[in-house]
Order: sequence, then structure tokens, then C-alpha cells
Amino acid sequence: MTTAQAIKRWNQFAESFTENYDEQGDLHHQVLLNPAIFSLIEEVEGRNFLDAGCGEGYLSRMLAQKGAIVTAVDYSQKMLEIARDRTQNEKNIQYRYGNCENLDFLIKEVFDCIIANMVLQDLENYKAAIREMYRLLKPNGIFIFSILHPCFVTPNSGWIRNEQLDQQFWKVQRYFYEGVYDQKLPLDADEKIVFYHRTLTSYMKAIIQAGFKVEEVIEPMPSKEMLSRYPQFKEDLHCADFIVFKLRK
Ligand SMILES: C[S@@+](CC[C@H](N)C(=O)[O-])C[C@H]1O[C@@H](n2cnc3c(N)ncnc32)[C@H](O)[C@@H]1O
Repeated sequence: MTTAQAIKRWNQFAESFTENYDEQGDLHHQVLLNPAIFSLIEEVEGRNFLDAGCGEGYLSRMLAQKGAIVTAVDYSQKMLEIARDRTQNEKNIQYRYGNCENLDFLIKEVFDCIIANMVLQDLENYKAAIREMYRLLKPNGIFIFSILHPCFVTPNSGWIRNEQLDQQFWKVQRYFYEGVYDQKLPLDADEKIVFYHRTLTSYMKAIIQAGFKVEEVIEPMPSKEMLSRYPQFKEDLHCADFIVFKLRK
């Protein structure tokens, strides 16, 4: 399945996927991803940001409210429509239609910071996308990306309950499989989404071959404060849903 075919599902499910978002994204963004991403971002005011695979645009709006000049790209027309609808006050966001594997309508070395928040596991050619982000960054610029943690979220992964032990265990299968699969995520979602799995080694090789230096890696855990507000995130103390990289050009 190609990225263009996979994106059709995003167009179909864009409304239902984003209906639980507020101005800080969905609960997983708020509890796990945003604290990690914002701890890795450097200067924001007056800096050029690319939100690569912006979805409904919550991160672009958060960045624009902090003074960033944001280009936000998505390959789903429907997502962009929702993003534009939800963007009323932020003037410094330009939404563009495009495939992160090839953004040749953007000129090289213009961005101080690129963020691809939960996007690279959704596209077929992750190596091309990582190379493209390298091309678009200014020298010394940073690329932050979050993905489903490839060591835990694999085809058919999920919780298994053992009644005898009164415990649940996270099941990982087919870790070394590389390619397309579809799965409900969150696990109680109505519809399956298309994902591409590849091993951590493959991601690391692509990062290194593109020319990036790895500066930081975060496997987000819920903070005590978040756990007291959202106790359902206790299960995230057992294994990581996500991994977040900070790379330097
Ligand atoms: C899981 S959503 C994340 C959206 C947003 N970054 C967020 O965190 O809310 C993945 C997004 O990536 C977009 N996407 C998938 N493949 C893409 C590609 N090749 N180029 C650009 N956007 C893509 C989808 O349309 C969808 O909006």
C-alpha cells in the first residue's frame, strides 16, 4: 500500500479522529507527547517552524500563540479543512497540502525547527521523509519527531488479561516485520488506521544516513500530576506508547 492509498483513510476518519481534540490535542498529546516535545524545543518567538503532518493543527496553533512563524503541511485535504476551521485567531500559520516524503514546493534550509508529531509511522517512505526534513532545515536546525514506540506497538500488539494472576500484560508480536499493517488505535477506536512498522534499528539507520546527530531521546511517561488527573494512564508506567527524538542538522 502506498502513502497516497493510506491517506485515503485519514480523509475518511479525519472527523472522528479529531473529535476529542481540544486546544492541546487529545489526551495522549496532553499527558505524554506535549510535555516531551515542548521540553525539546528551543527558541520559538520569531522562529520558522514546520509542522510536518499537522493534522487538525493544534500544535501549529500552540506554536503560533508563542510567537512562531509556522508552515503546516498535511497530505489529507480533510485534515487541512478541519485545521483551517479551527484556526481563527492565529495569523502566523500557513497551511499547505503536501506529502512529507517530497515537499519540493518548499525551498531548502528555511526552517529553524521541524516537528513531525506522530506522522512517520503513517507514511510509506520514512527514509525519504527524514532526508526531506534534513534538506529543509537550516544548518544547526532541529528536527523533533514522535512515533508509536516500534518496540512495543507492533502488528497485533495489545493488552492481554490474565485472570488467574489478576494482571494484564502487553503483548508484542512480529517486531521484526517491516511494512504496512492496520490496527485500531486507540485500541477502543471504531475504525482501523493504516500504519507502517519498522524496527528501531531501521529508524536509527535512516536518521544517521540522512546526516543527523541524535541529541536526545524521550520515552514519555505520565507525570504524577497527570496520573492524579487521568488515572487511566497508570498502564503507561509499564511500557512506552511513544518515543520522541531530537535530531540536529
Ligand atoms: C496521527 S495523525 C497526527 C496529526 C498531528 N501531527 C497530531 O499530532 O495531532 C497523522 C497525520 O499525518 C498525516 N500524514 C500521513 N502521511 C502523510 C504524509 N506522507 N505527508 C503529510 N502528512 C501525512 C495524516 O493526514 C494525519 O493528519
